[in-house]
Amino acid sequence: MTKAPLIDEWEQRREEIRFKTPPQNHHRLFHLLHPKQFDRTFLDQMCELTTDIRTLAKTPEGQSHLQKLLAHKRAMLYFTQPSTRTFLSFNNACHILGIRTSEIRDSSTSSEVKGESLEDSIRTFSSYVDVIIMRNLEKGLAERAATLMEAIPRPIPIINAGSGKDQHPTQALLDIYTLERSLSHRGGIDGKVIGMMGDLSRGRTARSLAYLMKNYRNVRIVFIAPMAFTMGRDILDHLEEHGIPYTATTDLTEVIADLDAIYVTRIQAEHDIAGESQKIDLSRFTISSKELGALKEDAVIMHPLPRGPELHPEVDIDPRAKYWRQERNGMWMRAALLTRIFNAEAELYALAR
Ligand code: CP
Repeated sequence: MTKAPLIDEWEQRREEIRFKTPPQNHHRLFHLLHPKQFDRTFLDQMCELTTDIRTLAKTPEGQSHLQKLLAHKRAMLYFTQPSTRTFLSFNNACHILGIRTSEIRDSSTSSEVKGESLEDSIRTFSSYVDVIIMRNLEKGLAERAATLMEAIPRPIPIINAGSGKDQHPTQALLDIYTLERSLSHRGGIDGKVIGMMGDLSRGRTARSLAYLMKNYRNVRIVFIAPMAFTMGRDILDHLEEHGIPYTATTDLTEVIADLDAIYVTRIQAEHDIAGESQKIDLSRFTISSKELGALKEDAVIMHPLPRGPELHPEVDIDPRAKYWRQERNGMWMRAALLTRIFNAEAELYALAR
C-alpha cells in the first residue's frame, strides 16, 4: 500500500523524531547561570530539541508522552523580582514535562522577613525540590546559590531566570531560537545585521543576546540607544575580543534600512536613581507604522516584553513582528532546557517511538 504523502512540516518532523538516534555525546548541563556557558554546538542542539518538543506537543499523544518525562521531579520557582512571562513560561514548561512546582514570588511571605539569610533559604528549597529557578534583583545571587550547592550533600541545579541589570541567559536562548527560526529561510543568524535598540545599559536581555553573537559567523551588531543608556563597556570589550563588528548610533533612521532584525527594548525606568528616563525623547527609539516602511521586507522585529511606548501595538499585525511568537517560544525553550538539565533526551526520543 502506498503511504499517503506527508501533508505538512509538523507531520514530517514528527516522523523524523520517531526515528531519531538519541544524542549520545551532549555535554552535561547542571547549573545555568550565564550565557558564557553556551557555545554554537550547544545553541544548535538546544534549538533542535526545542523544535522536537514543540512538535511532540502538537498531538494529545505527544503531550501525554511529555507529561511522563519528568513526572518524578519537583521545581522551585523563586521569583522575588517581578515577572510575567519568565515565571509563567517556566511554570508551564515544568507542567508540560510533568514536573510539580512550588513558588515564592514575594519575600515578605517567606522566612526571609524573620531574618533568614538567602543562603539558608536556598538550602531549604534544595531540601524539597530537584531544581531551583530563580530571579532576584541582586547581581550574582544565582552564582552564589550554585557555589552553595557545590558545598552541600544534595546539590541541585540552579537556573538564573534574570539577575538584576546584569544577565538573562534563558531569555537569550529563546531569543536565539526565535531569530534562527525567523531567519531560517535566509540561512539563520549567520551573516545578518542585528540591531538592538533602547535601554542597552540596563536591559539584561540585550546584554545577554549581544554576548551570544560571538557564536555566529559574519554577524554585525548595530546598537541604537540614547547617549545615557548605551551598551556597557564589558559587552563591547567582549565583542572586540571575539572580533564581532559593531557600530553605535543615536539615530535609528540612519541604520534602519540595513537591519535584518531589530531587537527593541524598553527604557528600564525602575532602575532610575534621579529620574534619568524622563529626560529621554523616546520617539527617536520607537517602532511604529512610520518606521515599518523603512525596514527590509523580510526583517524580523523582536522585543523581550513587557513593552512600553517604544513598540506601538499597530506593529503587532505586521508579519515581521515576531515578539508574540518569541514569548511562546520561551515556554518551549525552557522545556528543552529542563529536559537537558535532567539528562532526559534519550528518554524523550524513546517515548516518541
Ligand atoms: N522577558 C521577560 O523577562 O519578561 P518578564 O519580566 O515578564 O518575565
